Amino acid sequence: MDGGMAGDRIEALIAEMTLAEKLGQLSMLAASLVVTGPVLPGDPVDLMRKGRVGGILNTWGHDEIREAQRVAVEETRLKIPLYFAVDVLHGHRTIHPIPLAEACAFDRDLWLRTARESADEATRDGIQMTFAPMLDVCRDPRWGRISECAGEDAYVNCEYARAKVRGFQFDAKDPQRRMFGVAKHFVAYGAVTAGRDYAEVDVSRRALHEVYLPPFKAAVEEGVAGIMPSFTDVAGIAMTAHRGLLRDLLRIKWGFKGIVISDYNAIGELIPHGVAHDMAEAATLALKAGIDIDMMSGAYEDGLPVALERGLVTMDEIDTAVRRVLHMKEAMGLFENPLRGLEKISPGPDTIPEHRVSARDAARRSLVLVKNEGDLLPVSKNGSNIAAIGPLADKPGEMMGPWCMAGEEKEAIGFLQGLREGFPDCTVQHARGCPTDDAIDPGELALAIETARESDVVFLCLGEDRQHCGEAASRTLPRPPACQMELARAIIATGKPVVLVIATSRPWILPDWMVDGARSVVIAMFGGTEAGRAFADVVGGEWNPSARLCISWPYRVGQIPVHYGMRNTGRPHDPNNGFSTNFLDAPIGPRWVFGDGLSYTNFELGELRIDKTIAGASDIVHVEMAVTNAGGRAGEATIFLFAHDPVALVTRPMLELKDFAKLLIEPGETRTAAFALPVSRLAYPGFDMEPRLDDGRINILAGTSARRENLKSVSLEVQQRMTA
Ligand code: BGC
Repeated sequence: MDGGMAGDRIEALIAEMTLAEKLGQLSMLAASLVVTGPVLPGDPVDLMRKGRVGGILNTWGHDEIREAQRVAVEETRLKIPLYFAVDVLHGHRTIHPIPLAEACAFDRDLWLRTARESADEATRDGIQMTFAPMLDVCRDPRWGRISECAGEDAYVNCEYARAKVRGFQFDAKDPQRRMFGVAKHFVAYGAVTAGRDYAEVDVSRRALHEVYLPPFKAAVEEGVAGIMPSFTDVAGIAMTAHRGLLRDLLRIKWGFKGIVISDYNAIGELIPHGVAHDMAEAATLALKAGIDIDMMSGAYEDGLPVALERGLVTMDEIDTAVRRVLHMKEAMGLFENPLRGLEKISPGPDTIPEHRVSARDAARRSLVLVKNEGDLLPVSKNGSNIAAIGPLADKPGEMMGPWCMAGEEKEAIGFLQGLREGFPDCTVQHARGCPTDDAIDPGELALAIETARESDVVFLCLGEDRQHCGEAASRTLPRPPACQMELARAIIATGKPVVLVIATSRPWILPDWMVDGARSVVIAMFGGTEAGRAFADVVGGEWNPSARLCISWPYRVGQIPVHYGMRNTGRPHDPNNGFSTNFLDAPIGPRWVFGDGLSYTNFELGELRIDKTIAGASDIVHVEMAVTNAGGRAGEATIFLFAHDPVALVTRPMLELKDFAKLLIEPGETRTAAFALPVSRLAYPGFDMEPRLDDGRINILAGTSARRENLKSVSLEVQQRMTA
């Protein structure tokens, strides 16, 4: 239907709707395979029948969707179809690595592909909307939700946002396989105080404009359909009521035309936030800030009629939100085909084998090898005795991570099965050794020690359970629990070569003895349905590890937040100067920094070349670096391009990522990492937070991680009057 006819239909509907029906369109109900918050009273089917529900979250599958939609289009007065939304963050039925792991692949094509495949599966299950991508830049491993984002860097989160929005919304050739994305949680949720979930956020305007807002801007530029404000406040203003950010910035300045959806119960939570006395005030604040859809608080339903009576809101304001919801349903194609995309058989790894292959590829591209002393890895496949020890060694279900709503545990592959399949000529013994986080049983520990002693190499698989990561899973000590420490000590003490495998959703603070005692360390995080096979591909050498950390791993909790983009300060760190910025009891930097990661081959970097040394504001500077594979096997190099502005109006980070590239290089071959860097990307927010570029020198640096000592650099002179 063309825009005009659609517009007419929508206006005709609005003219005919009662207030209750309008508020129904603005209400999203959890009906309910999975509930992630409080549940509203009343029979959901009865509410649907009365037109009191506009869309449903957390329901999927042929029979469920068909029946709910039948009620909407046959039994309601106006026959307006429902929309269905689920948190499809890293896979629907086939589960991909958690975002924090997948971001480590630094691979835009991969990010796009897994989003497209997720949309493909979810739309076949009747879903038209996902609450993703999650774009909360985070530098705090205490926060459980760090697992959902693309790590510590704003630019990576921007690129991740673009790829995910394209993959969910636009990449499928068949329009029925496109899913609306809702970028969340706007904004700075990743900066909750002390990493405590839902806590206050008190960040500077500069941090907002430099770090937290850009990924959302990228998503909006890419055409994301929706935005979800975060539960939290920012500097005392609850995001659910934030007119400055939701209305003035997002809608007016950025020109966002899509839908704004509250987080679960967040409008009602304006009361405990202490900015509304009752539901009428809460609903008023949210509506006036530009929130169209109330997810599960009942505030629009109960509060807006009272707000209208009190003269706090107008019918026009309500109609504006209703219009947006109906336009969204129109754009989803639901008026034409309420069962759009739905298929009888739920698609998953068993029904779409290509997705399983793709998930395995995604998982191996996301595994980061950070230590490999004496080239312990890859392990020989010829008859060695392998031990898979630890609470995560045989936990396939946990590999799916926090948002795996439709993922089936029975389809997931854990480390043990992966090793058994991948090393058919080896003996693979298993002993759990201890639970994930509980008292250790001496008999179980003894068995694990015995199993280690009988082996040639031990994979010591430590980590957390997936219900201990994600939402409402903050920790003051993100580190191995006591029982896992005890197990690790005992296994390392056997003297056998140990590969430490970390299956967590966040950086863990590891004790030095554990890292020193392990010959190799693999950061596996949660790799999804195919985690175990992907792991075996890497440790067996079928896949040369290519991932790099998108998040720094601190030495100590007290260093948090620690990330590569720190400022120089007025007293730059100097180990020989007691009055420079420093810790008395810990190094200044993290244990593993952004970009760290090893390969089974070595890359040698040539000098950095630049096609001009002086450039104007609208120029594009071409930067190149030759990369040679000096080792014995093919491998993928990741080259990061950074900038450092040494003198500006405000202090600048010592390094800022501006681009990255991946190159597959054969042994002995040299390839070129080539970047087209727009000079405008070197701008920074000035005093007024508008992009500002100064004349003068900017250092351009490149290399394989954010370790400054290993970067090659050139300098560029910016002279804005030169061109344009
Ligand atoms: C989370 C959101 C999620 C929503 C719906 C909330 O608790 O904060 O990220 O989209 O639930 O499941």
